[in-house]
Amino acid sequence: MEKKELLYEGKAKKVFATEDENYVIVSYKDDATAFDGLKKGTILGKGVVNNRMSNYLMQLLEKNGVPTHFVEEIDYRDTLVKKVEIVPLEVIIRNISAGSFAKHYGVEEGIVFDEPTIEFSYKNDDLHDPLLNSYHALALKLATKEEIARIKELAFSVNRILKEYFLSLGVKLVDFKLEFGRLSDGTIVLADEISPDTCRFWDAKTNEKLDKDRFRRDLGGVEDAYREMLHRVFGE
Ligand code: TMP
Ligand code: ASP
Repeated sequence: MEKKELLYEGKAKKVFATEDENYVIVSYKDDATAFDGLKKGTILGKGVVNNRMSNYLMQLLEKNGVPTHFVEEIDYRDTLVKKVEIVPLEVIIRNISAGSFAKHYGVEEGIVFDEPTIEFSYKNDDLHDPLLNSYHALALKLATKEEIARIKELAFSVNRILKEYFLSLGVKLVDFKLEFGRLSDGTIVLADEISPDTCRFWDAKTNEKLDKDRFRRDLGGVEDAYREMLHRVFGE
């Protein structure tokens, strides 16, 4: 299928129509932002890493029973996906304390939890993605009770599958953000991306950060970290 008109341009991706209204093409950019778009930059090659890694992981998840939007990788930057209506919730799972969790609760990074945590934020940059619970999400009619239950179930499945997978590559899956979408028949599927932009990856031996925190926190070696994650997944 071919790219038709641009439907939407986000901070890291563009979405194009195709000749079939049930499918869109996602095109990954090298643009990087943080802090609700306040910090801007470019991470050379990021679009390729994120597209390829996300596609690989979506296929791994499909094999393990998690429905996703993935259809077909067109090239290193572009992917055909099922068109969904995005549920405006960012679903965050954490296995180890880091980032806003460490900040909010006044704890150091690196505490390994006995059980993973889940939290939601309202996907709305103008409001700075405020944290909310399932009752708030229901009150705001962001999703139904059944959808929220399904999203929680799928998010924990994704964690079980990916945690084990990344450990086999010598990487700790610290935390990550997922987005879900509705197909035209209402089925909930995993959408958006799973990449160093949306996950925290720490080297299992050294705890070196191999993700977008290198950009957010000006740690240097940003491109190298993305390249290293591509290398771990594809061996190139
Ligand atoms: P946090 O600790 O800043 O709340 O981030 C938790 C996880 O969510 C982390 O893996 C990075 C990811 N994330 C996004 O994908 N998009 C965002 O806008 C933010 C703030 C975090
Ligand atoms: N991409 C997000 C933004 O610019 C933030 C982040 O990933 O830290 O809002």
